[in-house]
Amino acid sequence: MFTLVHITDLHLAPLPIPTADEMSFKRRLAYISWTKNRHRIHHPDVIAAIAADIKTVAPDHIAVSGDLTNMALDREFENATRWLEQFGDDSKISVVPGNHDAYRSDYKEAIEKHWSRFTTGDGFPFMREFDDFALIGVSSGVKTQPFMANGVVSDEQLAKLEAMLTDAADKGLPRVVMIHHPVHSGATKVRKKLTNSREFRAVIDKAGAELILYGHLHKPLRTSIPANGGLAAIRGAGSASASGFDGTRPAHYHVIRVTDKNTFEIEHRAYDPASRAFYKTDTEILPITLNICPN
Ligand SMILES: [Fe+2]
Ligand SMILES: [Fe+2]
Repeated sequence: MFTLVHITDLHLAPLPIPTADEMSFKRRLAYISWTKNRHRIHHPDVIAAIAADIKTVAPDHIAVSGDLTNMALDREFENATRWLEQFGDDSKISVVPGNHDAYRSDYKEAIEKHWSRFTTGDGFPFMREFDDFALIGVSSGVKTQPFMANGVVSDEQLAKLEAMLTDAADKGLPRVVMIHHPVHSGATKVRKKLTNSREFRAVIDKAGAELILYGHLHKPLRTSIPANGGLAAIRGAGSASASGFDGTRPAHYHVIRVTDKNTFEIEHRAYDPASRAFYKTDTEILPITLNICPN
């Protein structure tokens, strides 16, 4: 059995004050939003609690689906890296960026510089092969205009994704895909959606996949999309740092146990603001039926 933890949307505090050189209109908006409200929602106490909870789970691997930062400042990338380092060496951690990690013109270079150590080092998508499944990380983080939070998966990435899905299937490995933005139809409003989600879904439908993990919406969600004659399960996790302040949705994450390539056992763990600790809300057992084209 292999234990995979999936967390997302850490939005790590404290938020560094951007210098004059670093300040842009979009970052100014983010900073105002943080000082007004978001600092109460994304709280360091919750981040400390989830780290302690993950250590109790003792996963074999941790998958992080983006928005580790708030404004993509270098100091935030470094904070996130230090936070991840507490869980072991780089090979135990996979990261894909979110829209907040792309709040800068040179976002591709910054993500590569700080976080390529948490990938296979060959850009996106990347694939890590384990005994019981393959984990494929896709980047949907792109710089967007103020008030927009869209994502895009480039055509080049879509072509590589299809090849990786096929390669993993040829090896008999169930495929777990991680991406920041939700990919199902009608997932969110126009200004927050994955702009080319239709093209992404077409790749999944053609090449097949078994499980898709995402974040971005800061709320847990369970659905599925067509995948080569079968269905790919989709599971969205809540924000890893959400305090539940003022009735907002508290933090949530996934503990996924993969057994002999035939079962995903997905444990949902959520933050209880009263006890300031995480607890199990429920566990799903998903039989893995490889969505592989017979020819
Ligand atoms: Fe987020
Ligand atoms: Fe996001």
